[in-house]
Amino acid sequence: MSAPISRDGFSSKFGVVAAAAGSAVGLGNIWRFPYVLGENGGAAFLLVYIFFVFAIGIPVLMSELLIGRKALQSPIGAFKTLAPNAHWHRTGLIGVICSLMILSFYVVVAGWTLHYTYLSISASFVNHTRAQIGGNFNTIAQHGVLSFSWMILFLGITALIVLRGIHSGIEKFSKILMPVLFFLIVLLAIRSLLLPGAWDGLAFLFNPDFSKLTQKVVVDALGQACFSLSIGMGVMITYGSYVSKKQNIASTSVAVAFADLLIALISSIAIFPAVFAFGIDPAQGPGLVFVTLPGIFSQMVGGYFFSIVFFVLLVIAALTSSISLLEVLVAYGKEELKLSRKTSTFLFFCVVALLGFFCAMYPFVFDFMDHVSANYLLPIGAFLIVLFIPIVLKRKETRMELEAHGKKFRFFELYYWIIAIAAPIAIVLIFVNQLGVLDGVF
Ligand code: PHE
Repeated sequence: MSAPISRDGFSSKFGVVAAAAGSAVGLGNIWRFPYVLGENGGAAFLLVYIFFVFAIGIPVLMSELLIGRKALQSPIGAFKTLAPNAHWHRTGLIGVICSLMILSFYVVVAGWTLHYTYLSISASFVNHTRAQIGGNFNTIAQHGVLSFSWMILFLGITALIVLRGIHSGIEKFSKILMPVLFFLIVLLAIRSLLLPGAWDGLAFLFNPDFSKLTQKVVVDALGQACFSLSIGMGVMITYGSYVSKKQNIASTSVAVAFADLLIALISSIAIFPAVFAFGIDPAQGPGLVFVTLPGIFSQMVGGYFFSIVFFVLLVIAALTSSISLLEVLVAYGKEELKLSRKTSTFLFFCVVALLGFFCAMYPFVFDFMDHVSANYLLPIGAFLIVLFIPIVLKRKETRMELEAHGKKFRFFELYYWIIAIAAPIAIVLIFVNQLGVLDGVF
């Protein structure tokens, strides 16, 4: 979900957490996390991922929220206000490019979830064989026009919500629906664990094989952590601008990160036992969820009912994230291009639809948008955002903002050390390593 319209902001802590978690929790947790984990060999990836969520994700999330709350503006304006006459606002531009790239494939996958809602309603999973269920995914993935049509429908709904403002609608909605989604995934995980051969899936997920720890695993884990937490592109700066001074930014960030990690983990516990029980290749890529979950539904008492509810909720989880992505673009159009909200929404609807068309038609464009945005642009954005703190805000102002609710932040030194030194160095090393410059050194 995107930021509410009036600047009076979120009324309760739960409101902020639900809003930020609404952006964070989405297809990234249920669709992307399991497939990236599957491609990267399982448990070793999971460990690196969890490490990045805590060591880099939470500090970056805190930094974005505090920048937004201090400036009371969306990203580009926030950088301009806090660092006038400097080039920092260009960081906002990276966010805009990133939103465009992410949205263009995100809406395609969200379109698939709409298609799967339709398939659930027409009972396409009940009593179907594995081959038929696999065939369903091939039909949508290889049929660009079908994919594109569902995508346009989803993008249209997103644009309508962004156009009308989101505060009272989707935010209230999500507070009820996100817990229902959570409950359903737990239910699926339990059903999956009861499948014969479930144990192999758990071993894949939790028994690390460190020989699988390659450079690609590290880069993918960092990218996925940024993607899943919606950090590195300014969404959380916008949310921060609506957080009241009374709220504790550190504990809010920890709560959002935990909720996000928990949903990713439970989704994987639902998916991997089924992957092994059904003999599916864990490294099969973006189709993973769309083949395994219907497989579970087909073997479940009440599968018809649960599959409908599940896909409807997945569409909503995708919506609360896509709205936050489109809002970044629309805000850019309003603030920088001086367009009205209506014109800006229409303009970006068209641009995303065009890019989405190429993602729906050509899998290599889809993969390019997915990997380049998550693995490169988001970490670069995160790098610039953390550097902004020590270079522009400095220790004293940062501390004041983090302690504005009137309580001392006990881990301030650790936080500051991470964002000023450890996180930027780690991000640079990961990239340099990726380029092969350090081959033989480590
Ligand atoms: N975090 C969202 C998800 O996991 C995707 C997203 C990325 C949303 C970046 C906003 C910004 O689905």
